[in-house]
Amino acid sequence: MTIAPTIYAQRRARLLTQMQRGIAIIPTAPEVARNADTHYSYRHDSNFYYLSGFTEPEAVLVLVAGDEPQAILFCREKNLEREIWDGHRFGPDAAREQFGFDAAYSIAQLDEKLAELMGNQPALFYPLGGDAAWDQRILKLRSAVQEKKRSGIRAPDEIRDVRALLNEMRLFKDKHELDIMRRAATISTAAHKRAMQFTRPDRFEYQVEAELLHEFCSHGARHPAYTSIVAGGANACVLHYVGNDAKLRDGDLLLIDAGCEVDGYASDITRTFPVNGKFSAAQKDVYEIVLAAQAAAIAAALPSQTWDAPHDAALRVLAQGFVDLKLCHGSVDEVLESESYKKFYMHRTGHWLGMDVHDVGDYKIGDNWRALQPGMVLTVEPGCYIRPADDVPLALWNIGIRIEDDVVITAQGNEVLTDAAPKTVADIEELMRNA
Ligand code: GLY
Ligand code: MN
Ligand code: MN
Repeated sequence: MTIAPTIYAQRRARLLTQMQRGIAIIPTAPEVARNADTHYSYRHDSNFYYLSGFTEPEAVLVLVAGDEPQAILFCREKNLEREIWDGHRFGPDAAREQFGFDAAYSIAQLDEKLAELMGNQPALFYPLGGDAAWDQRILKLRSAVQEKKRSGIRAPDEIRDVRALLNEMRLFKDKHELDIMRRAATISTAAHKRAMQFTRPDRFEYQVEAELLHEFCSHGARHPAYTSIVAGGANACVLHYVGNDAKLRDGDLLLIDAGCEVDGYASDITRTFPVNGKFSAAQKDVYEIVLAAQAAAIAAALPSQTWDAPHDAALRVLAQGFVDLKLCHGSVDEVLESESYKKFYMHRTGHWLGMDVHDVGDYKIGDNWRALQPGMVLTVEPGCYIRPADDVPLALWNIGIRIEDDVVITAQGNEVLTDAAPKTVADIEELMRNA
């Protein structure tokens, strides 16, 4: 926990104020089996962590709003036998003290205590539909409380998705969160540099992936924020390529979309560069268009602009570029109107970034794209993916390029967290020349 317990307590207090009345139940994520006796590396639930800072599995946060608000943690009990096998557990007493909850109980008491705590609460706030097993369990508990109505105990009438409140809180990053995201970005930019310096023809995509992971882990980022995409040549035209098992070929480009997670916060960077260290003329032509589109998008990521401004700015540059390259035909307005650019650019230009790589937060308020505001963090990631086709110039076949940076909206404009990863043709070629 690098953020002080008081900050988590302030977040809980803000949520409690917004709830006004009722009870919130926020479980952490389950452990997930990979195969016999083996689990995927454990990752806590982001909402639970945002409000608790607690990273153990088998834990639930309960908040009771009203005149005497309460924050209660349910977690695993101390258990010497289990701790010999699996490691340290806080146990309720130490967790309450160190994380600053009003009360803490064993997770084994959850159903019994929740049945009490839910009684006579007007509203139940819960991440509805987030996990089928939890949905069933919570609804069953509510039914059990309903059974007590002849004793004068009422179950919550209203069930609300607590994420509606939490998503909006999480969308605006405070200075503690931004500090962590800056650290994640710094480690990830170093990893991209390392990958550029390591890359050569005949090395394998997974060997480059190993360099990325090495750099992440060496600097304390134990996990990538998402599975790294290391895509040589035509593989770059597969948007979610994660096979990472092909040999890199002289003359191809390599697209790497990789970022580490630090203290629960993601970074998300894409760079595309030549396997042999020198862009061909055709590769450079396409690359410069994507780079210009990204510059235009970053220049539009400003407070007072709306969410779609960076996307629109990138699209206009890409559309002009696609006309120049004879990939699309007609005027820029016609290309935009007909959406013929979608054959080569089929995704949007970014997403919110935070604890989740595709972070929470609405993109529209009502029918309108929302305004960008200080504290929001987004990615800016235009691309161009050219699959072989009869009506596509042969020299451009299988060129796949994306350039992605992480951008914080500030009062004055924006801050690009991931600038240290080279992205001009000259900077990339220089770094690779000196490898
Ligand atoms: N790495 C996932 C994305 O760029 O959205
Ligand atoms: Mn992204
Ligand atoms: Mn990405």
